[in-house]
Amino acid sequence: MCGIIGYVGNKNAIPILIEGLKKLEYRGYDSAGIAYIKNQKIITKKKKGKIKNLETSLEDDNSNIGIGHTRWATHGKVNVTNCHPHTVGDITLVHNGIIENYEKLKNELLNKGYNFKSDTDSEVAAAYIDYLYKQDKDILKVLNSCKNYFKGSYALGIILHDKDDSLYALRKDSPLIIGISKDGNFIASDMPAILKYTNSYLLLDNDEVAVLTKNNVLVYNNLKPITKKTLTFDYNEEESLKDEYEHYMLKEINEQPKVVKEFITKYIDNKQIDKLPNLKKYNKIDIVACGSAYHAGLIGKYLIEEFGNIEVNVEIASEYRYKKLFIDNKTLVIAISQSGETADTLACVRIAKEYGVDTLGIVNVVASSIAREVDNVIYINAGCEIAVATTKAYLLQVLTLATLAYNLAHDDKQNDFSKLPIILSKLVKQNYYDLAKKIAKQEHIFFIGRNIDYAIALEASLKLKEISYIHSETYAAGELKHGSISLIDKGRIVIAIVTKKSIADKTISNIKEVKARGAYVVLVTLKSLNITSDCYDEIIVIDDICELLVPLITIIPLQILAYEVAKIRGCDIDKPRNLAKSVTVE
Ligand code: G6P
Repeated sequence: MCGIIGYVGNKNAIPILIEGLKKLEYRGYDSAGIAYIKNQKIITKKKKGKIKNLETSLEDDNSNIGIGHTRWATHGKVNVTNCHPHTVGDITLVHNGIIENYEKLKNELLNKGYNFKSDTDSEVAAAYIDYLYKQDKDILKVLNSCKNYFKGSYALGIILHDKDDSLYALRKDSPLIIGISKDGNFIASDMPAILKYTNSYLLLDNDEVAVLTKNNVLVYNNLKPITKKTLTFDYNEEESLKDEYEHYMLKEINEQPKVVKEFITKYIDNKQIDKLPNLKKYNKIDIVACGSAYHAGLIGKYLIEEFGNIEVNVEIASEYRYKKLFIDNKTLVIAISQSGETADTLACVRIAKEYGVDTLGIVNVVASSIAREVDNVIYINAGCEIAVATTKAYLLQVLTLATLAYNLAHDDKQNDFSKLPIILSKLVKQNYYDLAKKIAKQEHIFFIGRNIDYAIALEASLKLKEISYIHSETYAAGELKHGSISLIDKGRIVIAIVTKKSIADKTISNIKEVKARGAYVVLVTLKSLNITSDCYDEIIVIDDICELLVPLITIIPLQILAYEVAKIRGCDIDKPRNLAKSVTVE
C-alpha cells in the first residue's frame, strides 16, 4: 500500500527516488510520481501504472532534493490527477494513510478560497498545511500543529519550493523511517527502498516531526529537539534478489525448508523453546490478524486447543476492533502480522492494551509498529518477503503457533520437527502442471475440509484466487449440504483436504456427496490414510508427520498449484491487481 521515498543530499535525487519506488513496488500500487526542486521551482512527474512508465517519461535532470510515491488508490480513481505528489501553494507532499476528517477540512478550505484538482484526502492535507503556513511562516510549528487538525493516519514527506535544502516528515500510525548516510538522508516507508545507500536508520514515532538536510537529521517532539537512537538494519541484499527464479513467489516457496530449519534449530535443537512465552497462565487466547495471517491464526486455534488445552478465539482484525470484547487479565491477545504494520491488526493491539490485557506479536518485520507496541514479540525471521501473496511468512507463522502448542503439550509424540525440513525440501520440488492446466480453465472452484483441514483449505483457496483471479470458495465440508452444494455441477473441480484421521470418514462422506453430483474431486491427503480411489479423480499424497506439524506440509502443494495456475493464465504473480502487501489503512 502507498509507498514513500524522499532524499536530500549530494547525489542526484531523481534516480534515487525511482530506484526507491521500484523497491517499494511489492507493497502494491497503481500509479507513481516524484517531485523535486530545481531553481526554487517544484517539478512534478506522475504516471498511471508501472514505475517503468514514470521512469521512461523522465528527461535527464538533476536535483539534490525530492520526494516520490507509489499510490494505492483509496480516495478517488486511479488517474494522474489523484496521483501524488500533490502541490498546493507552498507545500508539495506525499502521503500514506487516510485523513479521516478530510471532508470537513476540505469544506473549511473551500470557504477560504482553496480549489481542489483531485479527489484525494492527501491534496486536502497539502492545502491545510499551506493554509496554516500562510498564517505562520514557521514550518516546524505548522507541522507540529497538524496533529491538532488531522484525524486518521498519515506518514507525510514534504518539500517547499523555496527551501531546497530541507526535507520534512511527520507521521501518525503509518510507517515511516529515516535513513542516514554520509551522502545525504532519506525518508522511506520501508528499509528496502534505501538499502542500496544505507542500513543506518532511525524510527520516527507518532506525532514527531523530522527535518532532514544533507548533513543532518533533527527530530522534534512538541517542538523540542530529541535524540533518537540510530539503528542498523540487519539484512542481506541477496535476499531480495530473485536469483534464478522467474518470480519472487516461487523463490519464497523454495526458501521454506531453509527458514523452517533455521527456526527449528533456534528453538528446538538449541533448546531455546523456554525463551518463548509460556501460555499456561492464560484461560483464553484471542488471536487477531488479517488475510493469510488470519488463516495461520485459525490453524493455531486448532493446535493450541487440541494440544495445549487453552480456548482460542480467532478474529479478523477489522471485525475484532469494533466488537464487544470479553477479555480480562487471564486473556492473551496474539497479533499475527508479517509486515507488523497492518492498520487493523495494530488497532486491535492498542485496544487490547487499553483493556490492560497481555499482548503478544508474531511478526516478521523487525521494529515494525506491532512489534514495538506489543508487550512481547516473537520474530518469525522469514527474511524479506517480496511477493504480495505470502508463502514463507505464513508458514513460519503456523510453525510459531505449532511450537507454542508443543511447548504447552510437552508431548514427545508430536516432536517430528527434525523431519519437517526434509519433507518440505521434497515437496517444494514437485510440480502439478497437468492439474494446474485443468484448473486454469475454470471460472469457479471449491475447496472443502473439516476442522484443521478447513483452515488449510481457506489459505489454499485464498492463494489461488489472489494470484490467478479464479473465483474460489472454501466450505466446511459438513456445511455444504446447507445450501452451497447447489453450486456443484458436472465437472466442477472440488479440492478436498483430508489429513485429520479422526474425522477423515466424515469428510469422505461429503466428498461422495459432491462426486455423486458430478464434481471432479482432487484429494489432498496423507499416505497413511489410504483413501480408496472411488473417492477422488486425482490425488496428491503427502508423507506422514506427527499431527501437530501436518498443516505445515499440506499447504505446500497447494501453494505450488496456485502459482502454476496463475502462471498458465499469464497473471502478474508477484503483484496481483488491486492488492497491497502492507495494508496500512483500515
Ligand atoms: C495483505 C497481504 C496478505 C497478508 C495480509 C496481512 O492482504 O496481501 O498476504 O496476509 O495483508 O498482512 P500482515 O502483514 O499483517 O501479515
